[in-house]
Amino acid sequence: MTSNARFAPGRIQFGGDWNPEQWPAAIRAEDVELMQRAGVTMATLGVFSWGELEPEPGRFEFDGMDDAIDRLHAAGIAVDLATPTASPPIWLHRAHPEILPVSRTGQRYEQGGRLGWCPSSPVFREAALGVVDAIAHRYGAHPAVRLWHLGNEFGGGNRRCYCDVSAAAFSRWLADRYGAIEALNAAWGTAFWGHRYRAFDEVEPPRDSETVGLGNPGLVLDFDRFSSWALLQHAIAERDVVRRHSPGIPITTNSMVGVGPHVVDYAGWAREFDLVANDHYVTAADPHREADVAYAADRTRGLDPSRPWLLMETAAGAVSWQRVNRPPEPGAMRRTAMTHIARGADGVMFFQWRQSIAGAEQFHSAVVPHAGAGSRTFREVEALGAELALLAPVAGTLVDPARIAILVDDESGWAWDSGPKPVWHRSIATEAARWHRLLGAAGHRVDVLPVSADLGMVDVVLVPALFLMSATTAGSLATVVARGGTVVVSSLSGIVDETNTVVPGGYPGFLRDLLGIRVIEHVPLLADDAVALGSGAVVDGWAELLEAPSDGGAEVVDRYAQGGTCAIVAGHPAVTARDVGAGRAWYCSASLDDPGLLALLQRVLEHAGVPADGVQGLDVVRRAGGGRAFRFAINHGAAPVELPIGGTDLLTGDRHQTTTTVPPGGVVVIEETA
Ligand code: GAL
Repeated sequence: MTSNARFAPGRIQFGGDWNPEQWPAAIRAEDVELMQRAGVTMATLGVFSWGELEPEPGRFEFDGMDDAIDRLHAAGIAVDLATPTASPPIWLHRAHPEILPVSRTGQRYEQGGRLGWCPSSPVFREAALGVVDAIAHRYGAHPAVRLWHLGNEFGGGNRRCYCDVSAAAFSRWLADRYGAIEALNAAWGTAFWGHRYRAFDEVEPPRDSETVGLGNPGLVLDFDRFSSWALLQHAIAERDVVRRHSPGIPITTNSMVGVGPHVVDYAGWAREFDLVANDHYVTAADPHREADVAYAADRTRGLDPSRPWLLMETAAGAVSWQRVNRPPEPGAMRRTAMTHIARGADGVMFFQWRQSIAGAEQFHSAVVPHAGAGSRTFREVEALGAELALLAPVAGTLVDPARIAILVDDESGWAWDSGPKPVWHRSIATEAARWHRLLGAAGHRVDVLPVSADLGMVDVVLVPALFLMSATTAGSLATVVARGGTVVVSSLSGIVDETNTVVPGGYPGFLRDLLGIRVIEHVPLLADDAVALGSGAVVDGWAELLEAPSDGGAEVVDRYAQGGTCAIVAGHPAVTARDVGAGRAWYCSASLDDPGLLALLQRVLEHAGVPADGVQGLDVVRRAGGGRAFRFAINHGAAPVELPIGGTDLLTGDRHQTTTTVPPGGVVVIEETA
């Protein structure tokens, strides 16, 4: 559970990971001077410092950390102190190679990477809690320490461990979950291939070898759930040690929220920490990179919309892990940062402060690049720091909830990836981001919410390819419609239940009554198939044979056109809608190309009375709180755009009467006149 510790520093945080252990004293001194010059408010320390802090088992050397914390404190910079457990020291791996994770094919990982530990290993747990205890004891009450940062990107390297220790822990977890082995046999449908278990300790993780081949989807999904849970137990154990020594100081851990599905169930994790923090890096080659930043930020906020979150890591320049690491254009990093702030982040932090000259990430950018502070990258970050200081009044405010929400679920993504499907090459995880992007460009703000979220205030709930759906989620969608709201369900939603078992009787299982339809057959299309709807919308890869019986109450809104290459669906219903009082439940059985999907969604929103309220060519988001409201407008384009809103621009101090011009590539933050 979270504590009462709230991260509320009254200003937008700005800084990054500082790794002074890589540098001599002169550089450390210069770093702190540069941080002050740039207006840094917080630095993350110690993320990968275990081997330095505990050079031998049980012997700690704190001089370097003392020096770093004292330097920062003297400079008025807060410390976000990490537990260094993401990267165990070499001595631990030498003494206990059994803590290294084992891959699906039975290969034990080698020393030399990071996250080289099995989440279920008691040996690792003891060693990790030892160093966490020593650090928290020494620095828990230090006035510079304002935030704790547990580990680093849990699961990014040790998401699943298939070793015998993990296997035994998995058996125990299953026994807790199912109580009786017959319940597990029923849930997983082990009658298929006659794989009935007699006891929980007969179950093994879904290990892979030539002889095993395909695993049971129920087993595969439960192993993913277990793996997320096992990592969380470790994070909770660290959290509790830190909290004991450092009461009142908020504790977080950096997530990797993106297009997903994620390595762990972040919606569940968010409940355990005082603050949601995220790491996000722009993909240089992504034609939709700006939209994907917005999607990731909205999705991060959706984990807990009740409080601001923190962008814990992003890159000041290029990364070094994409195929071609092109740096951002001038101004692009600023717009990325502002996209996160607009969407509820109360801080922008960079990985890392000074670019390493050695080690695995020596070509990853940093705020201070190899070329030094006399560089474009440093100047841009310095300018950003000055602007973030001007945004202090925004800190603590919340993003206005959107009238439209997309439902997402990591377990659903894991279920899709758990075994053979009608189409193997198709990633359904990208659908939610695509819907978000299309609607965003058309001037609609769209929240991204986990299935556990409260949908009480949402007018239109979008359900793109939510493959796994529980009866509870289906029930909350029915409630939305019953209270006059709109629900849009796409193909590949509601196919399996929480046990990864198909809900029989026609897809989409629990939603048939709500939608008034029944899908008889999935019809994935071949690359050279040409299928369209009567409206002209192009079908892109996926169609379904759908029945909309008259007693189901659904009207057919669009049909598969005659004359395409797929006679199975020609002339049959493709898109339906069913009215329930003032509510309406839509179903779209075809995957549509971008223009076709956008046209359908616009039709839905028009019917629901939810007009686009954005401005063409601008990304506009409003944050409000404490009687003040701020409108962020970001222009990713090459021409100026008029924002029809007056007020004071926090970034320039200029007052605008009724409209504000947002320059090409520019950003404004208008405080609304009360
Ligand atoms: C993050 C990680 C950092 C650094 C960064 C490089 O995933 O937390 O330590 O490796 O990527 O982009």
